[in-house]
Order: sequence, then C-alpha cells, then structure tokens
Amino acid sequence: MNQFFNLKSFFAFASIVALAMLLSMCAEKVQDNSKVSIAINPAHTGPEINRHIFGHFAEHLGFGIYGGIWVGPDSEIPNTRGIRNDVVEALKALKVPNVRWPGGCFADQYHWREGIGTPEERKSRINVSWGGAPEPNTFGTHEFFDFLEQIGSEAFISANVGSGTVKDAADWLEYLTATGSSLAMERARNGRIEPWNVAFWGIGNEVWGCGGPFTAQEYITELKKFATFSTNYNANLNSQFVAVGPDSFDEYSFGYTEAIMEAWANKTWTWDIQGLSLHKYTRGGWPPVIPATGFGELEYATVIKETLGMDQFIVENKAIMDKYDPEKKVSILVDEWGAWYAPTEGTNPGFLQQQNSQRDAIIAALNFNIFARHADRVHGANIAQMINVLQAVILTENEKMLLTPTYHAFRMYVPFQSAELIPVNFDAGIYKEGNLILPRVDAIAAKGKDGNIYVAITNIDPKNTTSINLSFNGQTILSVDGETLYASSVDAINTFDNPDNVSPKAIEASAAESNISVTVQPQSVTVLKVNL
Ligand code: AHR
Repeated sequence: MNQFFNLKSFFAFASIVALAMLLSMCAEKVQDNSKVSIAINPAHTGPEINRHIFGHFAEHLGFGIYGGIWVGPDSEIPNTRGIRNDVVEALKALKVPNVRWPGGCFADQYHWREGIGTPEERKSRINVSWGGAPEPNTFGTHEFFDFLEQIGSEAFISANVGSGTVKDAADWLEYLTATGSSLAMERARNGRIEPWNVAFWGIGNEVWGCGGPFTAQEYITELKKFATFSTNYNANLNSQFVAVGPDSFDEYSFGYTEAIMEAWANKTWTWDIQGLSLHKYTRGGWPPVIPATGFGELEYATVIKETLGMDQFIVENKAIMDKYDPEKKVSILVDEWGAWYAPTEGTNPGFLQQQNSQRDAIIAALNFNIFARHADRVHGANIAQMINVLQAVILTENEKMLLTPTYHAFRMYVPFQSAELIPVNFDAGIYKEGNLILPRVDAIAAKGKDGNIYVAITNIDPKNTTSINLSFNGQTILSVDGETLYASSVDAINTFDNPDNVSPKAIEASAAESNISVTVQPQSVTVLKVNL
C-alpha cells in the first residue's frame, strides 16, 4: 500500500515535473519568437547581385514624366534643360542603374519620330493607355537620354511591337547607336553627335495584353523579326534584348515562358535574346481596392503575403528556363514590380496616383531580398514606377517634392549593388494575423564592393520588436554601424508638410568577438555595415 502510494506519488511528481518542463519549453518557445539568430559565413560568397535589380521604370503616365521629371526649360521650378533639378539630385543618391522607358502599355502606342526635332516638329497626341491625357511629345528621345546623363543611369528602351513596325524599331535603335549613317546624322542635327548606348532593348511590353494581344506563338513570330533586324551599332557596347514573359500564372501569359524558351533553344543564328521579362505587382486583387493609406493590419498582412509570392513566381519560371537554358544565358528581368493600390480619391484613376507608406518600404525590401536570393538568374528588376505613379520613390506637386519610404529603402540598399551574395541561415519565426501566417523577419547578407559585409534585416511583424543575434563563423568584428527605417504605424507616410516623417535613423548595434546584437523595431527595415 505504502509502496503503491509511493509509486503513485512518484508518477504524480514525474507528471508535474514533465508538465513544468513542457511549460518552460513553451515559454522558451514564446520567448524565442522575439529572438532570431542569423548565421553568416563570410567565406562563402555566392553570385553577384546584379545592380540592375535596383532599376526603375518611368512611363508616360499621369505625372510620371510631365511634372515629375519634365517641367520644361521655361518653368519657374529649377531645372536643367527642362528636367527638374531637385528630382535629379534625389535620384543621384540611389545610383539608379537603368530606367525603363517610355512604357508600359504606352510603349506600344509610342512612335519615336513624334518625339524628336524642333518643338514644331513634335506631334501632339492623346495618351489612350492612361487617362486620355494630352501627350505633347516634348519629352522624347533626346530629353530621356539627357535625363539619364544627369542622374548617371543607363537606358532600358521598350520598343513598340503592338502598333509599330520592325523598321520603326530598327531605325530607332540605329538613330540611338550608329555613327556615320543618315539616321546618325539626323541625330547630330537634333543636337547629339555621339551615339548613346542602350543597355536593354525590350521587344514589346505585355504583348499578351495591352501590347498586342498576341498568343505566345504569334509573338514569337514578331520577336524573331524584331530581334533579327534591330542592331546596336555602338561598337563596344551591346544591348541585351529582352523578350516579353508572363505577369502571373494565368492562362493568357504563363505559357509564354515555356514557348519563348523553347523557341530560343531552337533559334537560328539571326536572332537571340539575353533576357525574359516578368511582371508581378502586389495588388490585393483586381481591380485594386486596398487603399494606399488608412489600412488595417489584415490588409497589411494580405499585401505582404502577396509580395512574398514573388519568390514562387520566380522559382516556377526559373524551373522552366532551366530546362531549355541550364547555362543561364537568358536572365530574368522583373521589369515591372511594386504595389498597386486603389487610386487616390479625387485623382484621374488612369493616372495611378497613390501615397506611399512604411508598408511599401517593407514591400521593397522583401522584393530586393527575393531578387538577390535568385541572383543566379534574376539580373534585373524595375520598380513601377519612379515618380508620382504606383509605388513611386518620389512624389511631386508643382514645385514641391518628397522622398517616399520606398525611396529610403532603395537608398539604404545601395551597397548591395554588385555585391556578392552571402547565404544566411536563420529561423524566421512566425508573424500571424487572422488566418495568415507569415515569416516574422527576413534577411540577406552580401560582401560589398568596399569589402564590408552588409546585412539587411526586415522585421515584418508590426507589433513586436525582435532581438537579432548575428554570428560570423568565428570571424572577429572590427566595427558595426547602420541605419534603420521604421515608423509608428505601418501606414505612416511622408507628406509635403511633413516630408521627413518616415526617414532612416542611425541604429545601435553591439559587437562582441564574432557576434552582433541588435534590436529591430516593429515594421522596420535595417541595413548594417560590418567591418571584419
Ligand atoms: O505600370 C502600369 C502598367 O502596368 C504598365 O503600363 C503595364 O505594362 C502594366 O500592366
């Protein structure tokens, strides 16, 4: 009896101990969720992060060009040959690698000859793609290249396949890049003797939709002709020819990757492509209804989840491309990405004007991280769009200008341009909102051109700070500093009256031997510079 009692007590005691252990493990688990350990081995550097993943897109759409970049030489807004000085200064800090122009859907209604020559020679048109706005063609080829030279960037031209001819496109590329021909002399008469270079030559835009519409096979017929007859005559500098790819898994566009890669694998010597374009927006449905400001946490989490879907989209397209191109000769260019919300009330819905919040900075950082992790195949990406349209980095209103949270994310990531990716190892933890389960943090690391290691950490969780421990495989840390972009709420914005409401601040991080501890704020983007 006594023995039985003792045994019973033992089991009771053992159960209490087990329960206590379980509870303490759970407590640890809860506590662990506020801590993330990121292991980085700086000796293992991966592929180069192509600087072109930080490219921009500027379409003739709303106030993207007119008002945003171009105010004309007679404007009271300070300008150089018609191009806003404040915008140029701000963009220089981003080291914008390339600008895609003139569209978008507009590209397939654009006739380059209407935008060259004297003011009298410019043709006035209606922008049927975007809001029926007048298109004066005062910003044309020469103005675009002047803008690129002012900001120190390269050209990504989208040629008109939908309503243009093979000859129009071939002539335009000759006009831009040749020396000695009649078209080159015409360019010189219009003020430019030296040829320009065209880093990327896009053969159409969304040709399964606004730029066509073509079936994949119909487009391939056009692609072959446009690629065969367009030549970059600039002796030392080649253009990368970019074919149109899909924008989603839908029936219209997804088959494009397979069809184009198959055609490419069987190509003849006359034509080639070096890039395949993917488009992927964060839209929360179509037509977009999620507001750019004044949204709740569920809308935040929904949009972030959709953004993270970029990874799967790239993974699936890569898998198809790998079948036909295991040597990765054709790269992916995500030449339109960004958040597309409901239009701002009181604006022309065709102008796609929207505010830009801390949520957008997080969307930008997550996309950069995804592109960087796919650095082996993703060699370019362009945010839609640069100024005053969709997820803009700059907003203007007459003479006023502000830098958006997305701008700051771009600026903070500049050291990742042409840096070597370093794989990172971490358990991201969980952020839960309603039925949505998301990673709590995201991070990438890279060895910058200056020899320093850069680590970007995004705390997706909008409620909790996260303590981060970074370890560097035993390597001694000489110094660490960095900056962080956070705001009191996910929908915090910059306004013309309060333009610095959301702006990066220095962050404190402490280093001990081979470890760094840093606490990142909720809904924040942080970039650390580590000197080993
Ligand atoms: O960026 C706005 C539009 O989105 C582009 O013109 C088009 O290519 C895409 O559908």
